[in-house]
Amino acid sequence: MRMLSPAALVTLVRAAAGGGVRRCRAPPAGPRIPAVRRSSGAPQPVVAAKEPFPVELKAGKTYAWCSCGHSKRQPFCDGAHKKAAPGLSPLRFTPAEDALVWLCGCKRTRTPPYCDGTHKEEAVQGAPLPPRP
Ligand code: FES
Repeated sequence: MRMLSPAALVTLVRAAAGGGVRRCRAPPAGPRIPAVRRSSGAPQPVVAAKEPFPVELKAGKTYAWCSCGHSKRQPFCDGAHKKAAPGLSPLRFTPAEDALVWLCGCKRTRTPPYCDGTHKEEAVQGAPLPPRP
């Protein structure tokens, strides 16, 4: 199977959604999403991607958004934080409705797990990406 670049994936998802992927700055209606837990002195997240990931969320399903950037299953957690960033935890959330949203890939958003545009800043665009197989 051929891997698509994030930009190609965005284009593909936009086309599949009829050109209208919802940019979600606020979470879909439902329970309040807890803040990402970062203890003081905890490792900082790494930039996993310089663009957000378009994701179709299903109502009632619980997701674990990777907050450390080390997961190989971006934008979701694969448990990599346990070794690579032990002070960070994934953000678990359960949407109340089906929604096509943009989940943050740079791990710098102020509205986790949703993209807020922070990835456009130089600190993110100039950051190295972790090696991927
Ligand atoms: S990908 Fe947009 S704020 Fe992180």
